[in-house]
Order: sequence, then structure tokens, then C-alpha cells
Amino acid sequence: MKKYNLLQEQILQLKKEKNAVIVAHTYQSKEIQEIADLVGDSLQLSQFCANDSSQLIVFCGVHFMAESAKILSPLKTVLLPDIHAGCPMADMVTASDLIEFKKDYPEAKVVCYINSTAKVKAISDICCTSSNAVDIVKSLKAKQVIFVPDQNLGRYVSTFVRETEFIMWNGFCSVHNNLKASDILKLKETYPSALVAMHPECQEEPIKLADFVGSTKAIIDYVLEQEHDEFIIATEQGIIDRINMLDPSKKLHLAGKCLLCKNMKKITLEKVKAALEENIYKVEMDENIMNQARGSLVRMLEASR
Ligand code: 13P
Ligand code: SF4
Repeated sequence: MKKYNLLQEQILQLKKEKNAVIVAHTYQSKEIQEIADLVGDSLQLSQFCANDSSQLIVFCGVHFMAESAKILSPLKTVLLPDIHAGCPMADMVTASDLIEFKKDYPEAKVVCYINSTAKVKAISDICCTSSNAVDIVKSLKAKQVIFVPDQNLGRYVSTFVRETEFIMWNGFCSVHNNLKASDILKLKETYPSALVAMHPECQEEPIKLADFVGSTKAIIDYVLEQEHDEFIIATEQGIIDRINMLDPSKKLHLAGKCLLCKNMKKITLEKVKAALEENIYKVEMDENIMNQARGSLVRMLEASR
């Protein structure tokens, strides 16, 4: 039987009373992951929220993730326990800038990473996550694609879709973008038998040194499936807790001190409890925007089946 602390017990009791479901991204702290009904990457969380029957979702992640859950399930109540838990990369592209930019590429399809605002999703042709981006772009069979906002993910995906010209937005995730190839080289020297698993939000030079590149779910699956027991993990540190919970025998080394997403860590047990008690903070948005943004997300979910 799992042992919970008092706060966790109280949250689980409230969750039961309110018929709520708690979902958590893999970057959440261990104590949050422990009380979640589902811990997953962006794609898994969207799929789960779209299909689950619970009318109250407590979303332990960042704003664009909770917003996507609300867009996909407009009749459900979606709570984000800290309204300031945002993703700075999602704010690196605005709808008005994108509309202006598109004028120079009238034939291009717009693919937006799920790490974007509802307004940007509303004017994009399709959404993608790091786990389905290659398939999504391929499915478009487009001559030209404007990829927003993550230039690192866009560049990585472009290496698998040579038939399409990519026009990159210049956004990035500072957590992953700050990781240097020299950090990886040093760690490889210290742990010569470790395999390197990396998120595609990292820059091109470190990616060249990786044994595996994938979404947070793909990284977890890769580490668990390998007979190998030692890994250098090049993504946000919450994933280390996740892997340890699933298989404590794996020896994991975080690739750099920069790999901490302060926004993800704004969600705490205290705030989750307050969210359930006070019904805060409800994710809401303009209905027209929400309806338009749904198209991009639904097209993505259909293409990822
Ligand atoms: P995943 O979709 O791989 O979970 O990534 C989300 C994210 O924000 C990575 O920084
Ligand atoms: Fe955004 Fe980067 Fe945090 Fe992911 S790790 S939520 S991309 S800031």
C-alpha cells in the first residue's frame, strides 16, 4: 500500500468528494506525481482529458496544458492550481505577430507546438507535441511549413521531413536551450558507460551527442526498456523522480543544473488542496477563440491515433 503524507491524504479525500481527477506532467514534483491519476507528456495529458468522464480536472502543469484540456473539454471545469504557472516559450509568439508573418508565406501551413497560447492555436492549421511532431508535419504533405514557436524542435523535426521547407519562429525553452554540448561531453567523461537521453527542445549541438531523442514519455519508455542501467538525462529534472518511481534500479544523472522549470514547480500540494477547496483557478477563455483553437488540437489528435 502506498503511504501518503497528511496533505496528500487530504487532497485525495477532497478529490473523491468532488469527483475530480488530478493529472500531472512528468516535470511535476514527486509528491504531486504520487497523487495524480495520470502522469504523462503533453500528448498523453491532452488525450486523457479529452476522453475522461470526470467533470472536474485539476491540472498540475503549466497554463498552455490546462488551456488545451479546457479547449478539448469545454463543458468540464479545469483548474490550474497556480495561475502564474506559465510557459515562457508559449508567450514567444503572439497571434498578431503570426498573422503579420504569415503574409510573407501565403502558401505555408502553420504548425504550432502545443506549447502555445489558444489564440495562436486558433490561427494555426494543426498542433503538434514533441512526441508526434514528425508524423504531424509529414501528414500535411506541405511544400512549406511555418513552425512556431520552438526553433529547436522545428529544426530537429525538419531533419526527418526533408521534402518540406521549414520556416522557423525564433522561440525556445530557456530550460533546454541553456544546455550546452560541453555539459554533455563532461558528463560522458565522468560516466563513460551512460547512455544520453535528450528532449528535442535542446539545441542542435547537444542533440548530436544524444543516444536517444524524444518526448518526456518517450524518454521514460526508452530508459525503462533498455537493459542498460545508467543514463544521462537531458530534460527537466522531474522526469528523474518519475523514472525512479517506476524503476529504482536505473542510475540517472541530470545533464545540467539549468534543467529546472520554475513554472512547473509553482504547483505545490498546498495549492492543489486550495484549488479543490476553493475551485480555483478556473481556466476560461473567449468562446470563439476556444472553438477555433479546438480545430488545431482535434486535427492533431486525429492524426496521432
Ligand atoms: P513533452 O510533451 O515531451 O512532455 O514536453 C512538454 C514540455 O513542456 C517540454 O519542455
Ligand atoms: Fe515551457 Fe520549457 Fe517549462 Fe517546458 S520546460 S513548460 S517548454 S519553460
